[in-house]
Amino acid sequence: MNPHHMGEIENPSGVGVVGNPVCGDLMQIQIKVEDGILTDVKFKTFGCGAAIATSSMVTDLAIGKTIEEALKITRSDVAESLEGLPPVKMHCSNLAADALHAAIEDYLKKEGRGEWFDGKSTKKKS
Ligand code: FES
Repeated sequence: MNPHHMGEIENPSGVGVVGNPVCGDLMQIQIKVEDGILTDVKFKTFGCGAAIATSSMVTDLAIGKTIEEALKITRSDVAESLEGLPPVKMHCSNLAADALHAAIEDYLKKEGRGEWFDGKSTKKKS
């Protein structure tokens, strides 16, 4: 395995950290956003090999995408790109997509666009 984009971004635009309720491992994703595009995405995790493989995959999928496109990267896209994981490892692969979404949410909140995110992710606000 040769994971990509491990580490940290200097002055990230957004940071997302999620914990894995099953095993207690943590996943952090940092994003750099320029003109609405994710120009850089890096991750750091204390999780297992499956968590590292999926976060590497998520960073590959997310870099170069717009915020809107990146929000559409789902847990199952990630698992599919890895050609299926054993079910016991699914909770590990979910971490990366969740942390990416959390990082984008953090970015939008900092930009004062948290409502935009809330409106998108839950219900439409008038
Ligand atoms: Fe903790 Fe996989 S066992 S992330």
